Amino acid sequence: MYQYDQYDQAMVDARVEEFRDQVRRRLAGDINDDQFKPLRLKNGLYLQLHAYMLRVAIPYGTFNSRQMRKLAHIARTYDRGYGHFTTRQNIQYNWIKLEEAPDILAELASVEMHAIQTSGESIRNISADQYAGAAADEICDPRPWAELIRQATTFHPEFSYLPRKFKIAVISAAEDRAALRWHDCALRIVRNEAGEEGFEVYAGGGMGRTPFIAYKIRDFLPAAQIFSYLQAILRVWNLHARRDNIHKQRMKILVHELGEEEFRRQVEEEFQTFLALGTDFPQAEYDRIAAYFTPPPFEAGLSDDIDRSDPDFALWVDRQVVAHKAPGYAIANISLKPVGGIPGDISAEQMELVADLAERYSFDEIRATHAQNLVLPHVRKADLYALWQALDAAGLANVNLDLVTDIIACPGLDYCTLANARSIPVAQKIAERFANMERQLDIGELKIKISGCINACGHHHAGQIGILGVDRKGTENYQLLLGGSGAEDTSQAKITGPGFDEAGIVDAVERTVERYRELREPGERFLDTYRRVGLDPFKEAIYG
Ligand code: HEM
Ligand code: SF4
Repeated sequence: MYQYDQYDQAMVDARVEEFRDQVRRRLAGDINDDQFKPLRLKNGLYLQLHAYMLRVAIPYGTFNSRQMRKLAHIARTYDRGYGHFTTRQNIQYNWIKLEEAPDILAELASVEMHAIQTSGESIRNISADQYAGAAADEICDPRPWAELIRQATTFHPEFSYLPRKFKIAVISAAEDRAALRWHDCALRIVRNEAGEEGFEVYAGGGMGRTPFIAYKIRDFLPAAQIFSYLQAILRVWNLHARRDNIHKQRMKILVHELGEEEFRRQVEEEFQTFLALGTDFPQAEYDRIAAYFTPPPFEAGLSDDIDRSDPDFALWVDRQVVAHKAPGYAIANISLKPVGGIPGDISAEQMELVADLAERYSFDEIRATHAQNLVLPHVRKADLYALWQALDAAGLANVNLDLVTDIIACPGLDYCTLANARSIPVAQKIAERFANMERQLDIGELKIKISGCINACGHHHAGQIGILGVDRKGTENYQLLLGGSGAEDTSQAKITGPGFDEAGIVDAVERTVERYRELREPGERFLDTYRRVGLDPFKEAIYG
C-alpha cells in the first residue's frame, strides 16, 4: 500500500501544527466560533449534538495493522472505546474533546493518516472497491489511480474552495461494490479493443435532498489523460455552479440543469484546453505510485480445498468469503453488524484483534467497505478456519453479508445535529426481528439502508428497502422506500406512501418482506421481484 514520502509527511505534520495553533487561539478566545468553524471543518472536525465528531479518511478503504492499532488507541484514549465506520470508507469518533483534537491528528500523522478534506467544500476521500487488488473479477488494481488522483487533488488550490463537496470513486470490476453512480464523478477502468486501459467516466450522481444517478459521459478515456479530464469536469462545475443557493451547489444539479449533452460538450471543450496545457502525469509518476500496490508475495501451489466439516464455519465461508484472484487464497468479509449492535461500530479491542489477524493472515492489509463492514483481502484458504475461530471468539464472525440484518445506518438523532429521527434503534429493531438465521438465508440478498434525514448518509436512496427519518410535527416518523440499488444495477428507491412511527416501520418492513416471499419466483432476489411486479403489490401489503 501507499507510503508517505518526506513531502507527504511534512505536509501532514505541518497541517497538524497549524491546526494546533488554531485550536489554541479558539480556546484562548482569540477567534470566535464562526471564525473557527471553517478551520475545524478543513480538518474533519464537526460539532455534533453532544460533542465534537472527528472523521478520519481511509483512502480507498485500504489500511494496515499499524494504522488499525492507532485507530484503536485513539478510540480508547480520546473516545469511549469505539469507532464508527461510515459509508464512505471513513471512520468517525463521536466523543472528541476540542482540546485533544490536535493530539489525535498528531497520532494519526504518525501512522500516515489524517482527517484533511473529510469535510468542507473539497474533494473528499476517494472511494474504491474494497476488494481492489484481490478480486477475481477485476481488470487491474484501481488503487494506483485513486492514489494518483488523491495526490493531485489534495491541497490543490483550485479544488480547495469548490462550490460544494465532491466525491470520486474508482473501480475496475464489472460488479460495482462502491456505489459508483451515486458519486459526483466515478471512474470504471475498462479495456478498449486494442487492450489499452482507460476509464468509463460517470458524472452528476449524488444522494441527499435531490438525488441523481450519474450519467455516463465518456465510454473510453485513455487512462493517461485522467487528470486533464477531471480538471475539465471540475472547471465546468466550478465556473457555473449555483453558489447562490446551498441546495443547488452540487455538481449533480448543474449536470441536470444543463442537460447531459451540454455538460458533456462543455467538459470536452475544457478537456482540449487542459490537454494542450500538458498537465497530465508522466508515465513515470504513475509507475512510482503503482509500485506501492504490487501484489503481496502469494505462495504458489496452494490447495483450494476448504475443510467444511464444522457446519458453523461452513456457513460463514458460504456467506462471508468470496473468490480471490490468486489460487489458494480467499477474501474474508468481517461483519460489523451483530444483531442488536450499532451498524459500523467496533470496539478498540476488536480493532486490535482485526489488526493482529490482518498481520497474521492477510499480508497486513485491511479494507473498510461502504456498507460499514471490514475485509481481510488476502487469506490463504488453509487459514480460514483459524481466522474464523479467532473472529468468532471476538463476536466478529456474524454471517449476514448482504442479508436483511446487514443494515447500513447513519448515526441519526443519537449523535447528529441535522437528524430528524433516530436511525440506530430502527436498525437494531429490524435486525432483532429478522435475527433467525434460517429466515435470513431464506430471504436472501436484501439491502436495507437507513438515514436519519434527507442528507442520505445512510444511503436510503440506494436501499432495496430504504428508510428515511422525517420530522412530522415534532415527532419522529419514518418513510419507507423500495427498489433502490447501489450496485451495478443502480436505481433510485421510491417512496411507498405515508410514514410510520418506530414500531410501525419495523412492521412495515416485515410486511414488505413477507409479500416478497409470496411473490418471488425461484432464484429471484427481493430487488428482482420488485422490479418485475412493481410497487403496487407491496403497497397493498404495507398499507392494506
Ligand atoms: C454525524 C455527523 C454527520 C453529519 C453532520 C453529516 C452531514 C452530512 C450532510 C450535511 C450531508 C448532505 C450533503 C449534501 O447534500 O450535499 C451529508 C451527506 C452524506 N453523508 Fe453525512 N453526515 C454525518 C455522518 C455521516 C455518516 C456516519 C456517514 C456514513 C454512514 C455519512 C455519509 C454521507 C453520505 C454517503 C452522504 C450522501 C451525500 C451524497 O452522495 O450526496 N455521513 N452528510
Ligand atoms: S443522514 Fe442526516 S441524520 Fe444521518 S448522519 Fe447524515 S446528516 Fe445526520
